[in-house]
Amino acid sequence: MGEMEDLCVTECTRCPALVDSRSRIVNGAGPDDADLLFVGEGPGAKEDEQGEPFVGRSGTVLDDGLRTVGLAREDIRISNCVRCRPPENRDPTKDELANCRGYLEREIERLDPEVIVTLGKVPSEHLLERSVAVTKEAGDLEEVRIDGTPRRLLICVHPAATLYDRSQEETFENALERAAELAGVADSEGGQSRLDGF
Ligand code: URA
Repeated sequence: MGEMEDLCVTECTRCPALVDSRSRIVNGAGPDDADLLFVGEGPGAKEDEQGEPFVGRSGTVLDDGLRTVGLAREDIRISNCVRCRPPENRDPTKDELANCRGYLEREIERLDPEVIVTLGKVPSEHLLERSVAVTKEAGDLEEVRIDGTPRRLLICVHPAATLYDRSQEETFENALERAAELAGVADSEGGQSRLDGF
């Protein structure tokens, strides 16, 4: 069993509404030595169907953005604030976020990433424990204590935001570029990932 596989949640019934709405639990994915941990809100329909985070339209936008800054999906770890699809894709409730927090904290502790990149308002507010104006604050790096340990967190807009508002594309890519720089893989020309060498 790989280092992170034992972190996979295989059974959980803490959130009755999510137990009803999910078809499976969607755990984090990606290498267990990744420098960057991306955190989204929660699985959508495709993720629920396939059991992997960010495999729907948002995932395609994320993959394109990563490629632009010289990263690949295989270089990063990706997870969510909640691991079960909320009904009708509503935001997870405070209780649901709290119920799932321990799983994410364990993943963060085990991975010990250089930087946590929060995709959108829900994960940014959840981990920073304050209100966040994501569009304004995207690209900002903050230090935050998570389960007692200081962590570096970079705020990023959610990839789906760029689908609804094209003006968010630049904000999204700039934040990803900063993430790549912080992980030591900045590649303003784009192209192949250079994470392997680090
Ligand atoms: N949006 C998210 O926040 N997470 C996913 O896994 C997919 C879409």
